[in-house]
Amino acid sequence: LLNPWPIKGLFDVIFCRNVMIYFDEPTKEMLLSRLTEQLAPGGHLYIGHSERLIGDCTARYASIGQTIYRKIR
Ligand SMILES: C[S@@+](CC[C@H](N)C(=O)[O-])C[C@H]1O[C@@H](n2cnc3c(N)ncnc32)[C@H](O)[C@@H]1O
Repeated sequence: LLNPWPIKGLFDVIFCRNVMIYFDEPTKEMLLSRLTEQLAPGGHLYIGHSERLIGDCTARYASIGQTIYRKIR
């Protein structure tokens, strides 16, 4: 997750559950920023129940359930 991704295009849904817990706060923020860039407008991000959004990306999501977020901008 922390190396360059061989990914082209955007995803409608990304599940990244119970992985950020291993990373320090700056790394979590960087990963969330990268995930946000790979998510299509209106797409959904699922994270673990013990995880939360942090950093600038927070303003780009609406919470639509327990640790489920829709990208709004
Ligand atoms: C607690 S498990 C969660 C598995 C699954 N996502 C779930 O919720 O059931 C944590 C997973 O994160 C993976 N992981 C940890 N650090 C990683 C990294 N830097 N890049 C990719 N995967 C990583 C581990 O290999 C493991 O599969």
